[in-house]
Formats: sequence, C-alpha cells, structure tokens
Amino acid sequence: MSEVLRQAPVVPESFQRVVLASRPLSRPSVEHFRVETVETPSIADGQVLVRNRYLSIDPYMLGRMFDARSYATPHPLGEAMIGETVGKIVATRHPRLVVGDTVVGPLGWQELAVSDGGNLDKINDADIGLSTYLGAIGMTGITAWYGMHQICEPRPGETVVVSGAAGAVGSVAVQLARERGCRVIGIAGGRLKCDTVIREFGVAACVDYRGAPDAAALQGAIAHLAPNGVDAFFDNVNGMTLDAVLPLMKPFGRIALCGMIARYGQQPMTLSNHGFLLLSRLRAQGFIVYDHRPLWPQARAELAALVCAGRLKVLETVSEGIASAPAACIGLIEGKNLGKQIVKLY
Ligand SMILES: NC(=O)c1ccc[n+]([C@@H]2O[C@H](COP(=O)([O-])OP(=O)(O)OC[C@H]3O[C@@H](n4cnc5c(N)ncnc54)[C@H](OP(=O)(O)O)[C@@H]3O)[C@@H](O)[C@H]2O)c1
Repeated sequence: MSEVLRQAPVVPESFQRVVLASRPLSRPSVEHFRVETVETPSIADGQVLVRNRYLSIDPYMLGRMFDARSYATPHPLGEAMIGETVGKIVATRHPRLVVGDTVVGPLGWQELAVSDGGNLDKINDADIGLSTYLGAIGMTGITAWYGMHQICEPRPGETVVVSGAAGAVGSVAVQLARERGCRVIGIAGGRLKCDTVIREFGVAACVDYRGAPDAAALQGAIAHLAPNGVDAFFDNVNGMTLDAVLPLMKPFGRIALCGMIARYGQQPMTLSNHGFLLLSRLRAQGFIVYDHRPLWPQARAELAALVCAGRLKVLETVSEGIASAPAACIGLIEGKNLGKQIVKLY
C-alpha cells in the first residue's frame, strides 16, 4: 500500500532522542540507554531537517554498545544511537531535496535529524510500505540476498539450513533459497516461530533450538530432517547452532557466516566441531553487507520485484514511539521479534 507522505508535518520546537548512557560489561539492558528531550536545531546552507517516521532496530546495535574489537568503532556515549530511518524532509536549505521528500538514511534513534543529504536516498516507489525500506528491501534484505546468492549459492534440489529463520534477515534468506528451488530447513526459537516460518515462508521444516538442551541434541534434530546432509548453511547465530550444523555439512558445502547474535554479551565459546571445516572441505565465509555497496541497487531491485510479485513475504514487529526503542533492541536478544523489528515514531 502506498505510504509516501505528501503533507509536511509541523516542525516541533523540541524532540526526543535515545542516547547510549553507559556500556554494558556483560548482557546489555534498557538501563544502558537514556531518553532525552532536546531543542530542534536550525539548519545551515546545504542541509535538511528530517522528521523520522520509522526506525530500524538491528542486532549490530548491541555490538556497538560494547568497547570491544569489531569491524566498526564502539558507539560514543551520550550520542543518539546509530540506526537507519525512513522520514520526511520538513525543512530544507538544500539545492535538490525539498520539503515533502521521503528519504531513507542513517539518522539514528531520534525523532528529528539534520543531514547534508549525502547519506540520504530518496524514496520514489509508492508501491511498497515505507518500513520495508528498512527491512526486506533495505540493509536487512540485502544482507540475506548477499549471503544467500553470493556465498551459499544454492542450486535447485539442494538442502539449505538457515538459523534465525524467523528474524529479519533469516525470514528473507529462507524465502530466497525456496525461490531457488531448494529444500529449506529453518532454525528458530519456539514452536510458534517455527510454525510461522513453515506456514508463511514455505520452508520444508523448522527446528526449535530452544527445545534442544545442547549442540548434540540440536544436531540430532537437524540430521533427522536432512538425512543426506546439508549443502549450504546461512548462519545468523553462531555458538551452539554453528557447532551443531558443521558435522552435517556435505563435502564442499558452503556456509555464510552472517551474524553472532548468540554471542553478544556472552563469554566467547569454543567450537568443538571446527575440524569439519577441513574434513568436509567446507567454504565458510564471513561478510559485512556494507562492504558490498556496489551490489545494493541490484539486490534492492530483485528484492523489490519479489515483494511486489507476492513472492517475498514481509513480517514485522512494530513498537510505538522513540522511547520504546531500548526495549525493542534488548528484545532482539530475548527473541521477542518476529520478522523485522521496527519502531514507528509517528
Ligand atoms: N553480516 C552482516 O552484514 C549483517 C547484517 C545484518 C544483520 N546481521 C546479523 O544477522 C543476524 C540476524 O539479524 P536480524 O536483523 O535478522 O535480527 P533478528 O533475527 O530479526 O533478531 C534477532 C533474533 O535472534 C534470535 N536469537 C537471539 N538470541 C539467540 C541465541 N542465543 N541463539 C539463537 N538465536 C538467538 C532471536 O530469535 P529466536 O526467537 O529464534 O531465538 C531474535 O529474534 C544477527 O546476528 C545480525 O548481527 C549481519
């Protein structure tokens, strides 16, 4: 349904934002964030003021809360949390962006943001819901597209396993593998999520990892569903899940190492089964979607075409108001989201 905003909302004198207040030493919690009210800034020549409408909540934000070695620097204390938004330009001194334009960009956990436009993409497509630009056809969907198509490279008839299958990236990844004619096995937390994955995304089966006490039990449950082995594994989780799948991989299988949500705020875990990387001559490749910007337009176009054709279903969990962002973010660790976690700001 078209959601492109046509009426410019009134610019408020102040707005709310959420900053990182302190760093977690172990498990992140809502106490590490602070909601602040600040004055609306004026804009300089070349700048625009954007009123954010939807905010994307992503697991990488949990990683940025820590002062730890990663592919990106830790998020600074006292600054609005990093995050992608879709919003509308409400004031402009920019040569090309006008009031009323709808834009997507990394404008953070705040109701209003100033930008020079360099980090903003204008949205013209009126056929797709605005929040989808943060999920299935945004960074999230492109992550699934890259890992599945460039690393897993599934062929028709192959068996593909996807962990985090009920989440934002996983729900797109399973559908992309299904579109390639593969037999897809999801892994997700809880019967409700597993049933949703099977019903909504057309996968063959889904394993409830929360029902498995350890990696051996999880391995047994997946082996039962894939008696001839696994050709490709798209891993959003790491830890016990990766350890469980490694021995099940067929020779020359492919593994896309996409995420480590099981490891955020927890002690590092040693994989017992890493020897299968060699024994089964596996190709396991980690990737960061931002390293592959040149492929984004192609990925976005393909994903948008699938959404418009009804071949890629979009599931979202939406919380209301900027102050709900910390709980939504911590909810990712607790598995509270089904599909993409979004915060609706107005
Ligand atoms: N490489 C890249 O460029 C890139 C880009 C985007 C995202 N990622 C990664 O991809 C993964 C998925 O991201 P997303 O945005 O789609 O998040 P998401 O899957 O929508 O949300 C996180 C989900 O992870 C699951 N989870 C939490 N703790 C877990 C645990 N200990 N073991 C197993 N599952 C657990 C929960 O689902 P259950 O209820 O099923 O447990 C939760 O709903 C994350 O690891 C993220 O960091 C990587």
